Amino acid sequence: MEQRIQALREQMEKRISEIHSKDALSTFWQDFLGKKGSIADLMKSLGTVAKEERPAMGKVINEFKVQAEERYKALSETMEQMELQARNQREAVDITLPAKGRPLGGLHPLTQVKNEIINVFSGMGFDVFEGPEIEDDDHNFTRLNVPKDHPSRDMQDTFYLEDDLLLRTQTSGGQIRVMDRQKPPIKVLVPGRVFRSDSDATHSPMFHQMEGLVVDKSITLCDLQGMLDKFVQQLFDADVRTRLRPSYFPFTEPSVEVDVSCFECAGKGCSLCKHTGWIEVLGGGVVHPKVLENCGIDPSVYSGIAFGIGIERITMLKYGINNIGLLFENDLRFLKQF
Ligand code: DAH
Repeated sequence: MEQRIQALREQMEKRISEIHSKDALSTFWQDFLGKKGSIADLMKSLGTVAKEERPAMGKVINEFKVQAEERYKALSETMEQMELQARNQREAVDITLPAKGRPLGGLHPLTQVKNEIINVFSGMGFDVFEGPEIEDDDHNFTRLNVPKDHPSRDMQDTFYLEDDLLLRTQTSGGQIRVMDRQKPPIKVLVPGRVFRSDSDATHSPMFHQMEGLVVDKSITLCDLQGMLDKFVQQLFDADVRTRLRPSYFPFTEPSVEVDVSCFECAGKGCSLCKHTGWIEVLGGGVVHPKVLENCGIDPSVYSGIAFGIGIERITMLKYGINNIGLLFENDLRFLKQF
């Protein structure tokens, strides 16, 4: 029996040294350590051994079993290790490869100019308020001193949704909404989209405005010009000046059209300023006492100034864009220039 064990032991050592695959390792386990393996056979034939020799022989078989198990375990660990290494190598990422470039997005020129305007005025203490794009007739017209059937309604070609609901034609309705909510002192900007049935190279049915409103004691037209000077100097050129021309808006009295001295030719005359030295940039004026009254503000105590800036107009002037459509086509070749 001892010889049989010795022979098996040598066979086992030889087999283990020749194993190169997991399958072979698993066959090795079945042949030696499995239920029908040679070590189980040895155990079974222990019954044929003389009783006195049985414990000693049992011990020898056991030692053989432990030895076979150790060999099996050691080789299976080595194989796992090798497999892991091979996998790591296969899946290795070359971190020195240059990264794929991703194009960076940017802010639309209209957004940039809107932010610039907000920036200038918030430096003077203005808040920002946003009103609804679908507006009622009261806020868009009536309470701004534009009664129903008043001819000044013709100044703005309106998209009506229902009798009293419309797409706002101006951000001026925001003035009413602010004054309903807040009593003076008020200093607020109302940016937003507005809509008019109007379309050509410089007009679009949808465009953007920035309304400004200041209400406090002793506010005058001088305050308006002072603030607008700062605004145009920051947006166009530090040397430009403003000029106020009489105009008409129902919600301001007096009303003015604000021109800026031409930043292309410094006032000498060029095609941009149509050889006048001046460019019209926005409208404004002293808030009409009726508008203050319509919002429960006493015009004998308070006064206000208001202005409305066309964001497309400012953007087109600032960047020399001659067709408003370019701002809405979203052609990347155009947008990438900003
Ligand atoms: N709402 C006017 C428009 O769309 C622009 C405007 C003019 C706004 C004078 C004002 C203002 O606040 O005082 O044509």
